[in-house]
Amino acid sequence: MSEPKKDNLISVFVDGQEVRVEPGTNMVEAATRVGTEVPHYCYHPKLSVVGNCRMCLVEMGLPGRDRATGQPLLDGDGNPVIQWMPKPAIACATTATPGLHIRTQSPMVKECREGVMEFLLVNHPLDCPICDQAGECRLQEFATDYGRGFSRFIEQKNVKPKRTRIGPRVMLDERTLYPVFPLHTVL
Ligand code: FES
Repeated sequence: MSEPKKDNLISVFVDGQEVRVEPGTNMVEAATRVGTEVPHYCYHPKLSVVGNCRMCLVEMGLPGRDRATGQPLLDGDGNPVIQWMPKPAIACATTATPGLHIRTQSPMVKECREGVMEFLLVNHPLDCPICDQAGECRLQEFATDYGRGFSRFIEQKNVKPKRTRIGPRVMLDERTLYPVFPLHTVL
């Protein structure tokens, strides 16, 4: 297992690739440093983590320890045995600890993203190409990149108002993706 070194950085692993980060760095940021996108909506580096959208689900594992002795578990080659959690975790709220591993491309993660996208789009209007944001919209991009391409939802969509002025410079758009930021500043 990797230990803190003099530079105070610790090693975590993104899809098996080591990256050294400051303790407490969240795994969305750690993945970004090795060029891996963990899709996310509600996380923003300058805001506190809310963990609403679930788009950043990943598999998470830690080096195992022998329960009797407390010693690290090693495989036949002397490498740490990683014990993977049975459930996915949100990367935005998972902070780096020494030896932490995440998987961002596994079948479980793919299925999670497809389910989340399907859920987020349940009440989304089908005429989204007319939206001002069309073409530069992360909802469209993630639906293409991570969605399953179809929805099992056949019930009537709950259609909310598109524009409600709630202040001199703020518009509430209740048709946009709920867990993201439905407030737009009117410039
Ligand atoms: S980015 Fe929304 S839950 Fe992690």
